[in-house]
Amino acid sequence: METKDQYAVYGNPVKHSKSPQIHAAFAEQTGQQLHYRARKIELEHFAEAATKFFNHGGKGLNITVPFKLDAFEFADQLSGRARRAGAVNTLALQEDGGVYGDNTDGIGLVRDIHSNLGWELSGRRILVLGAGGAVRGILGPLLKQGPAHVLVANRTVSKAQSLAKNFESLGHVAGCSYEGLTSGQFDLIINGTSASMRGDLPPLPHHILSNDGCAYDMMYGAEPTPFMRWAAGETAWAVSDGLGMLVEQAAESFCIWRGVRPDTKPVMDLVRQSLST
Ligand code: ATR
Repeated sequence: METKDQYAVYGNPVKHSKSPQIHAAFAEQTGQQLHYRARKIELEHFAEAATKFFNHGGKGLNITVPFKLDAFEFADQLSGRARRAGAVNTLALQEDGGVYGDNTDGIGLVRDIHSNLGWELSGRRILVLGAGGAVRGILGPLLKQGPAHVLVANRTVSKAQSLAKNFESLGHVAGCSYEGLTSGQFDLIINGTSASMRGDLPPLPHHILSNDGCAYDMMYGAEPTPFMRWAAGETAWAVSDGLGMLVEQAAESFCIWRGVRPDTKPVMDLVRQSLST
């Protein structure tokens, strides 16, 4: 009989997920007794699989592509940030048997950029590339840092505009097309598109990054992404991939589930090492 509390990440695909490694490292570091696995869920079966998981005593789930909207629908209660994002990446069983949904992506990004990398967000001009599921979770926490403004650029401009509209009560945010990026400079560009996964780059004009501008790709891998290479070519002041965000969002989920905050630095080093082997 299983005695450890059960957790999992549900996604499709999920084979290359680093979450089991990250949560095992957090559990060891904090002395928590838990088991965490990755499960591939067939596309139409999210709610059925999640219901089964919680009915069998599962304590919490992480949700990755393409189920964050399904998880939003599934949750009995939502955090404010999950409600605004319309997407959930963390489900937690409550004492009353209900399932709580939260979104830790944005706080993970902000912690990595602000605390780990030491890049300023307040007063900065920020450009976010993409308006899909990855970007939904980050706009609220980014705007709460008080940037000068956030512009969301997307191939399908209507998606950028409607996403920006959801967040306009939190600060200066607008949507535009890539063609609309003809004038103006940014102090930080965040790539939230899935273009890097296909070795692609959104069409960005030259000199859009300010002299002390930084570039952050929410993707990560053993090699720099095309966006990171582009930014280096534009002489960015600093460039990062999204490995730190991955570990920070996981730490926030772990804290929601277990009430203990792990130290992320050694786990970031561990995951970084495992990418190159
Ligand atoms: P998800 O919701 O899982 O993030 P998605 O809805 O397919 O996935 O979103 C992926 C994002 O990457 C979108 O913003 C997409 O732009 P569109 O909304 O116009 O499709 C963007 N994207 C994907 N490939 C891209 C490319 N080659 N160049 C620019 N943007 C790209």
